[in-house]
Amino acid sequence: EQYCHKRFYLRCKFLPFSITTTVKSSSSMDACVASDELKQKYFDRIPEAVIYDGIILPGTDVTEECIRLLNEKVFGQDNIVIASCTKSGTTWLAQVLSEICYNDVILKSVPMEKSVPWMEWKVNVLLPDHPLLLMDTVSSPKKRIWHTQIPLRHLPQSIREGKCKLLYVARNPKDQAVSNFHYHKMARHLGLQTDLSWDDFFRLHCSGSLRGGSWFDHVLEYWEFSRTNPNVKFLFFEDLKVDLAKEVKKIEEFIGVPLTSEERDNVIEHCSFQAMKANTMANRSGHSSLDHTRGEFLRKGVVGDWKNHFTVAQSEAFD
Ligand code: A3P
Repeated sequence: EQYCHKRFYLRCKFLPFSITTTVKSSSSMDACVASDELKQKYFDRIPEAVIYDGIILPGTDVTEECIRLLNEKVFGQDNIVIASCTKSGTTWLAQVLSEICYNDVILKSVPMEKSVPWMEWKVNVLLPDHPLLLMDTVSSPKKRIWHTQIPLRHLPQSIREGKCKLLYVARNPKDQAVSNFHYHKMARHLGLQTDLSWDDFFRLHCSGSLRGGSWFDHVLEYWEFSRTNPNVKFLFFEDLKVDLAKEVKKIEEFIGVPLTSEERDNVIEHCSFQAMKANTMANRSGHSSLDHTRGEFLRKGVVGDWKNHFTVAQSEAFD
C-alpha cells in the first residue's frame, strides 16, 4: 500500500493529466507483460551481460567487480554526483554542472567522459581518482563531477550517508522509455538491438527487465533518499525544459557555487539542445560504444515524444 502511495505521488508530478482511477482489465495489462523467452532474447543480445542483484549490467562496461571496486572509494565535499535512470537527462545536467564548476580549458578541450566520468564504468573504477586530477594541463576546478546509473543501494557508503552532494534527474517514464528504445538501436554495449520492436521493448520496460532494472525502483529509491537528506536534490527533465534559468539558479544554490547573471546567461546558452548537439565534447560524437550511423545521442530532446510511440492501450496500461 505504501509503495502504491509513493507511485501515485510521483505520477501526480509526471502525469497530472492522466491519473488513473480504475483498475485496468487483465487484457489491457497483457501489453505490459514480457515472456521469459523475450527477456532471455533481450539478455542474450547484450554483450557479456551479467545479472547483479536482479539487475542486468552491460558486462563490457560494468560488472559486479566494478561495483565492488567502486564501493572502496570515498566521496566527500569536493565531489558532486549526478544520478539518474538511463536516458533521463544525465548529459544535460552534466553539461549544466560543468558549465557552473569548470573553467574554459576543461569545457573546450576535455570530452564529457572525462570531465564528468561515469563512476561505475570499468575504465574509471580502476583509476585512483577523478580523471581530471590526472591531467596537468588544466587548472584546478571548483568541484569534481561524476555520474552514475546504478541504484542507490549499490553506491559507496559515503554517498549513501550523504557525504557529498547528489543531484538526481528524473523524466516522465514514457519519454524515458522512448529515448531508451532508440538508444538501444545505436548502443554497441546493448547489442545494437535494431530488430527489437517497440511493443516488445514496451513489455520489457514495464516489467523492469531492461538493462539497469525497473524505472520505478530506481526513481523511488532516490526519491526517498532526497526526502530525508539535505545533500540530495531531486530534479525533473520537464522542469529543465520549462525554465532552465530557474533550475540553474537552484543548482548553483544547492552546490554553493553562485554565478553572476551574465555567467548564468552563458550557461543557459551553452546548455540548449542545439548548442549541446553542436558541442563535440558533450554529444559523444567520438564515443566508440555508439554507432552514429544508426542514430544520434542527442536525438530530439523534447517532452511528449511518447505520444508518437505509445498506443492508447499501452498508455492506459502503463498508467
Ligand atoms: P531524447 O532521446 O528523447 O532526445 P541521458 O543523457 O540521460 O542519456 O539522456 C539523453 C536524453 O536527454 C536524450 O533524449 C537527449 O536528447 C536529451 N537531452 C540531452 N541534452 C539535452 C538538452 N540540452 N535539451 C533537451 N534534451 C536534452
